[in-house]
Amino acid sequence: AYSWSSPSLPSVLSGAVRIRYRMCQYLPVNRPMNDQNPGSIHAGAAAAEQATPSPSSLVIRRPDDWHVHLRDGDELRLVADYTARQFARAIIMPNLSPPVTTIAAARSYRERILAAVAPNRRFTPLMTAYLTDEISADEIAGGFEEGVFAACKLYPANVTTNSAAGVTDVARIHGVLERMQRVGMPLLVHGEVVDSDVDIFDREAVFIDRVLSPMMRDFPDLKIVLDHITTEQAVQFVSDAGPNLAATITAHHLEINRNAMLVGGIRPHLFCLPVVKRERHRLALRRAAVSGNPKFFLGTDTAPHAIETKETACGCAGIFSAPVALESYVRTFAEEGALDRFQAFASESGPRFYELPLNEERVRLARREQQVPAVVASGPLRIVPFHAGESMQWTLEEQAPES
Ligand code: DOR
Ligand code: ZN
Repeated sequence: AYSWSSPSLPSVLSGAVRIRYRMCQYLPVNRPMNDQNPGSIHAGAAAAEQATPSPSSLVIRRPDDWHVHLRDGDELRLVADYTARQFARAIIMPNLSPPVTTIAAARSYRERILAAVAPNRRFTPLMTAYLTDEISADEIAGGFEEGVFAACKLYPANVTTNSAAGVTDVARIHGVLERMQRVGMPLLVHGEVVDSDVDIFDREAVFIDRVLSPMMRDFPDLKIVLDHITTEQAVQFVSDAGPNLAATITAHHLEINRNAMLVGGIRPHLFCLPVVKRERHRLALRRAAVSGNPKFFLGTDTAPHAIETKETACGCAGIFSAPVALESYVRTFAEEGALDRFQAFASESGPRFYELPLNEERVRLARREQQVPAVVASGPLRIVPFHAGESMQWTLEEQAPES
């Protein structure tokens, strides 16, 4: 019940596809593209903003982002400060190439992150260990006890970007999970199976049945975050589970459904994994996010990819939401008439699950229009952000980093 099969690679790969494997390392699917249809990506009128008194600004505790991809090198230097200017802390995904599997690698990555954000920015990267079939329980528990690792990340092998070294079968990491349970180290899960007979839109729901449920039975005291949930099944499962299971929800899964990605032409910048689902699921996620239930909290899954690796025959998965993350989330809460619950979702439920102190600093989100750039660039590196070229109704008031 614990296994997921690895997709077999096609035996003949074109040069372009070969490159894509190196860059993203998940099974490519060639598809035609036509991105000539501009227009708002917002998924529709379902959530017309409520006519309750609408404050002109909202002051909340400074939020944290419980799921972030910052990459490395030039990409890291381009993207890191977008996260650091919005969030006090961020859980940093370890899916670099090679992945972050040791205490030493995590320490040095943390240093590179801190060097990449604006000087004097108050920002704490919380590092994670990438689980492999071979990783040692001593290394991850040692890293947790030293305060280097905040959590471990489980990628089923080949499920997404840089996951080829991920876990092929949960049975292989039983010793590690047992140790994590004992020391109280959280497990963060990319909850999708990769079995070739499972439709990509069903992969999360099947993962819950085949992998997550049995794992929770075997490790009842293990703290688990089901990352970036996308389905009503996940909402239901997390709601029904005990206090050791929580979930992050991205801004984009609250705002777009699969029509936004596919109708009128395929929009590669809205392709992410788990892929956006049908409207029913988006609505379930919105209800969960604004419910006030502390099991659901903010995790952007901001996942930048260079423009040429998105706008291509086999594009990488990931939405670069960091530049407008809070603006995008707060729009959902405003539309749902739930601004009074935004602080719990963005700034309180996450730290409580991780047993970390709440941030004392405050930020202000003003109901003031801003124009999102079409592209974020540094030299030849160009990345298209979420909501590129659109105007947003909210703006995070820029805090000058303290000098
Ligand atoms: O869309 C995604 N992008 N989903 C993931 O699981 C990984 C991420 C990435 O690293 O690009
Ligand atoms: Zn992610």
